[in-house]
Amino acid sequence: MVQPLKIGLLGLGTVGTSTAGILRSPQGRHPSLTDIEIAKVGVKTLDKRRAIEFPTGVLTTDLEGIVSDPNIDVIVELIGGLEPARSLILKAIANQKHVVTANKAVISRYGEEIYRAAEQANVYVLMEAAVGGGIPIIRPLQQTLSVNRIQTVLGIINGTTNYILTKMAAEGSDFSDVLTEAQELGYAEADPSADVDGYDAADKIAILATLAFGQQVNLEDVSCEGIRQVSAVDIQYAEQLGFEIKLLAIAQQDETGLQARVHPTLVPKDHPLASIDGVNNAILVEGDPIGQVMFYGPGAGGGATASAVVSDLMNLATMVHTSNLVNPLFKIPQHPSSRLVPTQELVTRFYARLICVDRPGVIGNLGTCFGKHDVSLESIVQIDFKNGLAEIVVVTHNVKEQKFREALAEIPQLEAIEQIEIPSVLRVLREK
Ligand code: HSE
Repeated sequence: MVQPLKIGLLGLGTVGTSTAGILRSPQGRHPSLTDIEIAKVGVKTLDKRRAIEFPTGVLTTDLEGIVSDPNIDVIVELIGGLEPARSLILKAIANQKHVVTANKAVISRYGEEIYRAAEQANVYVLMEAAVGGGIPIIRPLQQTLSVNRIQTVLGIINGTTNYILTKMAAEGSDFSDVLTEAQELGYAEADPSADVDGYDAADKIAILATLAFGQQVNLEDVSCEGIRQVSAVDIQYAEQLGFEIKLLAIAQQDETGLQARVHPTLVPKDHPLASIDGVNNAILVEGDPIGQVMFYGPGAGGGATASAVVSDLMNLATMVHTSNLVNPLFKIPQHPSSRLVPTQELVTRFYARLICVDRPGVIGNLGTCFGKHDVSLESIVQIDFKNGLAEIVVVTHNVKEQKFREALAEIPQLEAIEQIEIPSVLRVLREK
């Protein structure tokens, strides 16, 4: 008879509770779930009513005790945040325990340290739940798609910002009003910074880039802009020009090197990511020879994320029970390193909204200035006119970021340009 895999669950919040819920109700699910047993659950306090009751002695506030308990095979870390999560994961590994975690922040910052420790201890660290909630993306990149030469991983991997942008587009509302409403409804955190400033998506794309390109990409390698500066008026103009504005996380490798970034992006309406609305996530992987594969689904939430956590546990149960301890899940990136492309060398398209005095020669001067800096324009349109001021929107073809910025910097000095303001500069999804 197979000995059940004994797990120590750290954290009993939304995901922890849903994880325990799945494990305690295996009927109708995969049969190997019955080979997994919750031995201990580490919580902050015992004086709280819980949605699930555990047998006496299972709940404990002694998290250190769980990671060193010789009866436990796997630690499931669902407490989130950097500390004590990182230290507990490392202690668990040092005590020869496998780890399952949903902690993107720890993996994007300390992944290399954790994976090296795991390699030495000959244990697994699995993290399907760290990116895209319930969407399977980690294992597909590590295994199923890894025979391809991956060129791009492009995704909407933060549900909160996608919800806000979708609502702004549908209602014509401003960012701050939609954010307040999202906070009242519990879709956005009281401190929304991790989501709206792009840090959550940056953690996730660092992890996906590491897996896709076989090279350690850390959080500090990701350039990151959030959605606070996206205005209702830009969403409306983008719509008129045939685009949706989405917070995209992009990891790309080409002959110039590797880049990983997060920023609001104008996405053509016929692109598969343009129609991803609300809190959903979607990740598009492009590789050779497979072409494009898209993963779509619930990127957050207790049940969806727990589905990914338990799938890792099930995998572990199978691997441990078949003594398959040479699994490709576990490889530390070995490929030769590509250079990380600095932002000013990025090649992308741009959208800019400019306001200045409406007089003859304005559009001509702007066009000449962009041309002088090798910036090829796809369109330049005067969209609006208010109080003697013209509102002009420019969309470029692919251009090196530095060239575009140089052209923008020169605009205030142009002869026909008076009272210039440039309230928005956004990137547009790059042309092939
Ligand atoms: N806060 C994230 C989101 C989910 O809004 O998608 C957890 O990563």
